[in-house]
Amino acid sequence: MVGPHGGKLINRVLKDKAEVLKHENEFEFIKVNTDVIREVENIAFGVYSPLEGFLNKEDFESVLNRKRLANGVPWTIPIVFDLDDKVAEKLTKGQKIFFQYNNKPVALFTIEEKFNFSKDEYASKIYGTTDIKHPGVQRVQNMNNTLVSGKIDLISSSLTEFQNYYLHPKETRVLFKEKGWLDIVAFQTRNVPHLGHEYVQKAALTMSDGLFINPLIGPKKKGDFLDKVIIDAYKTLTNHYYLKNNVVMSILQSTMHYAGPREAIHHSIMRKNFGCTHFIVGRDHAGVGDFYHPFAAHRIFDEFPDLGIIPLFFRSFSRCTKCNAIVNDKICPHPQKYHINFSGTKIRKLLSEGEVPPSDLMRPEVAETIIKEDKIFVE
Ligand code: ADX
Repeated sequence: MVGPHGGKLINRVLKDKAEVLKHENEFEFIKVNTDVIREVENIAFGVYSPLEGFLNKEDFESVLNRKRLANGVPWTIPIVFDLDDKVAEKLTKGQKIFFQYNNKPVALFTIEEKFNFSKDEYASKIYGTTDIKHPGVQRVQNMNNTLVSGKIDLISSSLTEFQNYYLHPKETRVLFKEKGWLDIVAFQTRNVPHLGHEYVQKAALTMSDGLFINPLIGPKKKGDFLDKVIIDAYKTLTNHYYLKNNVVMSILQSTMHYAGPREAIHHSIMRKNFGCTHFIVGRDHAGVGDFYHPFAAHRIFDEFPDLGIIPLFFRSFSRCTKCNAIVNDKICPHPQKYHINFSGTKIRKLLSEGEVPPSDLMRPEVAETIIKEDKIFVE
């Protein structure tokens, strides 16, 4: 089985919780939101291996400038904890604080270092732009000014939504082993599936033992599909159109950064930690608007011969009316005028008007599932 990123699958779940909770009246508490909890659990359960906590200054700068941690291990998206200056001021190196969530201490954070950063530099290096229209840039501009690094120890897991689909790397690795899969291809998504997605997955699965569908659950931009809608749509799709024995669906609790090429590397690293050997990178992976070239997320892999997971690159899938089939530009000789693209905008518009998109764009069962939802989009 593929080794975890950086060599060791991190497990920072406290064994002796009672011992730590003895300090409940002694250590400071900091209230954190669900976004922070997602990061904390990813660190603790090894999704972000080899990270054991939030990045320090040296690693942060190295990620910005070299797309690697200070020790040279590939890493492209900063995993950082930002804190209000006034709160950060009082913290000292070595201090232990509790992260509080739902009125409970859920993790222990051991302060290592505090540092300031330039938001414009962060945005331009990670997203390739400082344009505030980019949702990732907006998120950076809304951050506090101080970053605090340090190791995390998880006391208890708080992410209860979609529990049945929340597998940790330790668990997926056991599952893949039990299934006897060797070549395991991972599919990242933030969308409900159209036929383009299905064909990309099935083309990859044709050459692999198993497919790991791993929708990203967490903060997304206005107009994106709600998490529940994505899960329900995939349940329907896999029930009707996939074999049971070679597909696993499980969620990734994380933030969507829309960082295009850099995020494609980040997405691959997380799936490597889940035990996958291959990772699908299609057209405009993790892109938004026209901030990235549709195949920039392919080219960036040239910089990472040491990544340890194999990218499977796919060109743009579309429907060719001449072939009467779903094709891509490597296999279809017909000019563009015969091609109908899987336009997310068009599909979203139809669904929001309660209309079922044509069956050559989206499976009718999937569309019906989506239309029946109370709410479809992030507001
Ligand atoms: S993403 O932000 O998670 O990349 P999405 O869920 O739409 O968005 O895409 C999931 C994966 O499918 C990505 O690798 C993306 O490049 C790929 N993909 C989406 N649509 C197509 C298409 N028409 N042709 C080829 N690949 C596609």
